[in-house]
Amino acid sequence: NSFPRPLVAGNWKMNGLRASHEELIKMQKGYSAELKGKVDLLICPPATLVHAFAHANLGSRIGTGAQDCHAQQSGAYTGEISAEMLADCGASYVIVGHSERRQYQKEKDADVAEKATAAHQNGLIAIVCVGETQQEREAGRTLAVVRKQLKGSIPAGSSADNLVVAYEPVWAIGTGLTPTAKDVEEVHALIRSDLRRILGKVEADKVRILYGGSVKPSNAKELMSVPNVNGALVGGASLKADDFLGIATAY
Ligand code: G3P
Repeated sequence: NSFPRPLVAGNWKMNGLRASHEELIKMQKGYSAELKGKVDLLICPPATLVHAFAHANLGSRIGTGAQDCHAQQSGAYTGEISAEMLADCGASYVIVGHSERRQYQKEKDADVAEKATAAHQNGLIAIVCVGETQQEREAGRTLAVVRKQLKGSIPAGSSADNLVVAYEPVWAIGTGLTPTAKDVEEVHALIRSDLRRILGKVEADKVRILYGGSVKPSNAKELMSVPNVNGALVGGASLKADDFLGIATAY
């Protein structure tokens, strides 16, 4: 069995209505004993569905997560959702620093670190996302960008128990494009070595580093067999149970 235990996480982004519950039920049914023995599954639906999904997932061993949280515990922040609220709804994970939030909400590394801290303070596992844009890759800055984001986004108090890192090259998200296995290997190795510097070797080696960006059943095997790839953060292909389970069976 692989170590650390792989995690296949679905980020539903701004998709999903109450009727999507049916897809979740299909995922639960397809999460066979064999699969349970090999891989953890997590679904991060929109905030409106977190409570219902967490309730439905009780007993199924599929985890429930959210896609963002506010850095503050509570207060006058109209429209925002705190980590405490997500934990109260039954979430056990929260994605922070997804590139779409870095792009559209202008979130900086320091904001991401504050959100991860809020997650930790409320018992949630933070999935911290990093990744370069197309422009940065073309300029040969991929490794520098990822290192900077990692350093700035991982807060003190992080450990293998409360941190997952996701490498998502921005240009690979929703485009059908993926980096070569060699490129993924290079970035994941760098993330591992930087994590060792930040957390110490023992802890760093237990952290799951996910790859995200156009993962689908047909490319999952190749991507998931790359050293230091401990799972996937899946967007589009996580909306359908067949695709999502198809990716999970890559293990
Ligand atoms: O967080 C997952 C994501 O950004 C990847 O999206 O649709 O390319 O799998 P997609």
